[in-house]
Amino acid sequence: MYKLETIISLAKRRGFIFQSSEIYGGLNGCWDFGPLGVELLRNLKEEWWRAMTYRDDIEGVDASILMHPKTWEASGHVSQFSDPMIDNKTSKARFRADNLIEEYIERLRKKNRTQQADVLEHKLNLAKEPSDYYRLIIEYEIPDPVSGTKDWTEVRNFNLMFKTFIGPVEDNGSIVYLRPESAQGIFVNFKNVLDTARQKLPFGIAQIGKAFRNEINTKNFLFRTREFEQMEMQYFIKPGSEQEWFGYWKEQRWNWYVYMGLNPEKMRFKPHEKLAHYANMAVDIEYLFPFGWGEIEGIHSRTDFDLRNHQEFSGKKLEYVDSVNNERYIPYVVETSGGVTRSLMALLCDAYNEEDAPTESGAMEKRVVLKFNPRLSPITVAVFPLVNKEGMPEVAEKIYKDLHPKFKAQYDISGAIGRRYRRQDEIGTPFCVTIDGQSLKDDTVTIRERDSMLQDRILINEIESYIYKRIGS
Ligand code: GAP
Repeated sequence: MYKLETIISLAKRRGFIFQSSEIYGGLNGCWDFGPLGVELLRNLKEEWWRAMTYRDDIEGVDASILMHPKTWEASGHVSQFSDPMIDNKTSKARFRADNLIEEYIERLRKKNRTQQADVLEHKLNLAKEPSDYYRLIIEYEIPDPVSGTKDWTEVRNFNLMFKTFIGPVEDNGSIVYLRPESAQGIFVNFKNVLDTARQKLPFGIAQIGKAFRNEINTKNFLFRTREFEQMEMQYFIKPGSEQEWFGYWKEQRWNWYVYMGLNPEKMRFKPHEKLAHYANMAVDIEYLFPFGWGEIEGIHSRTDFDLRNHQEFSGKKLEYVDSVNNERYIPYVVETSGGVTRSLMALLCDAYNEEDAPTESGAMEKRVVLKFNPRLSPITVAVFPLVNKEGMPEVAEKIYKDLHPKFKAQYDISGAIGRRYRRQDEIGTPFCVTIDGQSLKDDTVTIRERDSMLQDRILINEIESYIYKRIGS
């Protein structure tokens, strides 16, 4: 397992991910994607979009981030989307009360005080109100990790939605929220999609888009940020069939992450111990990050909670009319809710490898390699002339120009060939094409595969089909 700092450092050095507004000292919980990061991000979204919407029963939408404020009353976010927060009076440090208790439980476990840890964990699982968390912090005399003192404020609920104002007047009547999940943009469009796409139940609506949460503690790089992207799909079903569809989507989503390249041995399902206000079944797909297990996607059976509430708050009927069976009802929903940016981080951590590899002289050296699924790699193919003379650059440039409109390609003439391979390994480029002396005689090139480092010699006019054969079209 490699350290998160090593991966963050590579991500910055090679132009994947930078801290937001870095020249001003950065903005906590916000990150920018650089030239390679944006390609990886787009490829990941494209793969999800294909997997989820290139099928008969799922339609796509792209709803606006700002929505009618009643949306968030109906969804329960205004009243319930909050974290219990506590401040230490000495250090002025602010914590999520549940996290503070969880970290204390971890410390108890490290000291082998297992029984005490188990009891506290059980009590934490039962805690609901701010006062419940406060009582546990006081009862167990949990100290501030910063100052070591125990002079705590009361625990208060802190709503995670970012507020802003629409129009020129900043009063209560003009408050809108930056959406904390993309899902509600789907629910409010249920009827529009049903009426226009001529779908019948069961069918789904998929969306990729930004979401914003004013997280109290942002941490672990892209894992918990204030601005992030989600890929969500709501599958509308007949009430009573949720068990079947929950199982179906659990399996589909697991398989997708494995197909994208995540090591299944570092993945697990984690059923929710505490169900969210909208769910009657929920499970997370977790990945073993360098800092421990963390959720990358949730699969939730949301019953008719959202549509029923939107129907009530909007006064518009959101029923489904089953004309074959002569029934009408509000559909149930099974949701798949993944984080684009969090999954990207899991894929980056999983792809990172340090290996021993031979140099041109035969000695061994360390190579850093990102073993992405080739469909995700920011650059698909790199083209090198072996030396910068004897007509090789001209041939190489022509090949590069021919490949570039079809694949994200890079041309590199600087440094020894071994160094150029290493540079491409480090950014996860699956194929490197080298033009050498033989190329000038017989129109062939070598094509080197990133993971095996093996080379094939193929005709120049076969390069395109060779790559398509390996990555799919
Ligand atoms: N619509 C349901 C929903 O939003 P969630 O479990 O709160 O459920 C779904 O979020 C996914 O969104 C998570 O599995 C995670 O991948 C991502 N996510 C949530 N909060 C995040 C944050 N602060 N930073 C990055 N990703 C986040």
